[in-house]
Amino acid sequence: MSFVRACGLSELEEDTPKRVELDGTPVSIVQTCGEVFAINDICSHANVSLSEGEVDDCHIECWLHGSRFDLRSGKPDALPATRPVPVYPVKIEGDDVLVSVTQES
Ligand code: FES
Repeated sequence: MSFVRACGLSELEEDTPKRVELDGTPVSIVQTCGEVFAINDICSHANVSLSEGEVDDCHIECWLHGSRFDLRSGKPDALPATRPVPVYPVKIEGDDVLVSVTQES
């Protein structure tokens, strides 16, 4: 599993997604619920950036139709999305947030 640096931990604001591109994959980095999560930035319902949505209770909400994805599993808990969004392993090393987009967790 190869980890790449996504951003600095100090660049993140609680409950405010940060969009990055890692090896050509758009990823939303989210600090919430006492952890840092990495979820694919594209909603599984349509081609919409999840990082423009709201974060609440360990979920990120798609701003277009309101599906909420669990940041721990990527699973939607509300229609219209029915398919999960990939989530990725995260490691923190000092101020570096490292993500492996080669393996979904
Ligand atoms: S585009 Fe995200 S729920 Fe429809």
